Amino acid sequence: MGMSWNNYLEDNQSRFVDELSDFISIPSVSASDEHFDDVVKAGEWVVSKLNKVGLTNARMMPTETHPVVYADWLHAGTDKPTILIYGHFDVQPADPLDLWDSPPFEPTVKEGKIYGRGASDDKGNMLAPILAAEALLSSTGKLPVNVKFFFEGQEEIGSPTLAPFIKEHAKLLNADMIFSSDGGQWGESQPSLVMGLKGLIGCEITVVGAKGDQHSGMHGGGIANPLHALSHIIASMKGLDGKITIEGFYDDVVDLTAEDRQAIAKIPFDDENYAKDLGVPETFGETGYTTPERLWARPTFELNGMWGGYQGKGTKTVLPAKAHAKITCRLVANQKPEKIYELIRDHVENNVPPGVKVEVKRLPGSANPFLVPRGHNSSQIAGRVLRDLYGKEPFNIRVGGSIPVMSMLLEELGVHATMFAFGLDDEQIHAPNEFFRLASFMKGQVGYCKLLEEFGKGT
Ligand code: BES
Ligand code: MN
Ligand code: MN
Repeated sequence: MGMSWNNYLEDNQSRFVDELSDFISIPSVSASDEHFDDVVKAGEWVVSKLNKVGLTNARMMPTETHPVVYADWLHAGTDKPTILIYGHFDVQPADPLDLWDSPPFEPTVKEGKIYGRGASDDKGNMLAPILAAEALLSSTGKLPVNVKFFFEGQEEIGSPTLAPFIKEHAKLLNADMIFSSDGGQWGESQPSLVMGLKGLIGCEITVVGAKGDQHSGMHGGGIANPLHALSHIIASMKGLDGKITIEGFYDDVVDLTAEDRQAIAKIPFDDENYAKDLGVPETFGETGYTTPERLWARPTFELNGMWGGYQGKGTKTVLPAKAHAKITCRLVANQKPEKIYELIRDHVENNVPPGVKVEVKRLPGSANPFLVPRGHNSSQIAGRVLRDLYGKEPFNIRVGGSIPVMSMLLEELGVHATMFAFGLDDEQIHAPNEFFRLASFMKGQVGYCKLLEEFGKGT
């Protein structure tokens, strides 16, 4: 007794890494039906951990698809605020498997990093606040503030059935402030506050030509080629100046103010290094905007995949029957996924090349853009803790990624969540060899202890 949470964290760090390893080894890939049971298993793992830590009401709750996990500790007193901490225990698919140096679900620790699918996104990050609660409860017998934990198993597929769950359980989830363990930091020694996330909408285009593949000599020149037609459709949607040319696409975009642009310009973003790190000859995007403006605050249109025809070795003189493309757009305030989908569909329907039929289908999983208002209370508190933790003023940044639950929580509970997370940009999230720095893992635990303590001080 009399032990501080600091010492508790240090003394138990190697067990915590073992627990993280255990957690990562459950292949909770929400995108694949074969792994549905593993998503449930990961949820059960979290419930069991929350119970061991001493939280109350820990349980898995069903949604129409993948379950969520809830737990709380509400004994800090009614004069203390209630904060809700969010994270996700589902992960992205691990393929391509042959590009991993160690198997994705057999976590490996090497040079202060733990490798495995979900290590950073989001299992390492979401375990940190749970371990912070453990350290505080074990060392002081209580938490300085009322805490609710809310974890989901469907973030990586766009949280398709989460909104109705939140609506139905708004009272259970209600909180004065919300912090997300999903998000990230600027660098190992430079903190950042994420003030904005992009939204997302996806669709698939199928161009249909002849009733089957045809000989390109017998029928080339006689009928249209679906792959060629698809290329024209795609080319009609974005120019070489990086401007998206879908009619009405930018109509609802809130332009960056001079103040926004000044704030972004203050962040030391090095275009040349950025290009070098990614192995590209130069940066590219919408003209008239800097790279960080484009990355964080301008909508994008990305072709994620395009296929059809012959892709094997050598030549095959085929005139393919079908051609396909998958597209996602990242959205910014005040664009709405539904409306952008309709604009894409209308654009395609108005630009069908001769001789083919075209189908457009919306893909499941979407997100609204999310902006934290300047000077928002929970981000100011997070900022104070980050300043203390790193000894540096946090940058105010935005990111191009999406977390669908953010706008759902805002809509249903009226609370702007603040991201309080410790992943870094080079951690290969969604890619082979994903890892999480053990130093970040520890920083997250310390950070959440300090964050919870900050409320004990009577803020
Ligand atoms: N954690 C990411 C989002 C993120 C990435 C936040 C980088 C901050 C920095 C999240 O798990 C994610 O990958 N979201 C998906 C959402 C989509 C499936 C709706 C994304 O952004 O592609
Ligand atoms: Mn994530
Ligand atoms: Mn992710």
